[in-house]
Amino acid sequence: MQKILVVCLGNICRSPLAEGILLHLVAERKLNIHIDSAGTSSFHIGEAPDKRTISNAKKHNIDLSPLRARQFVQEDFERFDKIYVMDKSNLSNVLQLTLDRNDQQKVDYLLNCSFPGKNMEVPDPYFGGEQGFEDVFNLVYKACEDLLDSIQN
Ligand code: 4NP
Repeated sequence: MQKILVVCLGNICRSPLAEGILLHLVAERKLNIHIDSAGTSSFHIGEAPDKRTISNAKKHNIDLSPLRARQFVQEDFERFDKIYVMDKSNLSNVLQLTLDRNDQQKVDYLLNCSFPGKNMEVPDPYFGGEQGFEDVFNLVYKACEDLLDSIQN
């Protein structure tokens, strides 16, 4: 079974959103893929996703309320086949924990699923307004569809 991990800083906005969208699409498409998310920081360990992320996702029929934040750990390189990060700082934090080239090759920007090789970042909506959450939803939803399309084809 393929195993995919999505990673951001706090694991309360972008990566739980990506996890919830992937879980939704995997169920809809009846795929056998394991999905999880984590944050590079310890700031929000054990917390539910941000209220604004939960309410935005709910508008799109995706329930993030059962998810809880955890920190990214080195063992995640053994547990997962691919690790998708949201931005340059996540990439650098995750790469710092790699032990070899095999680990390094598992890591990529999530938005490279939609815009190959462009290394575009999913902006952090945490300090912004409601529209930021909607923009992030649309970007992440499309990237998750493109990711699963590429696995299926
Ligand atoms: P995330 O957003 O990395 O998408 O979960 C953030 C959440 C919290 C903080 C930063 C980013 N924070 O500084 O607490």
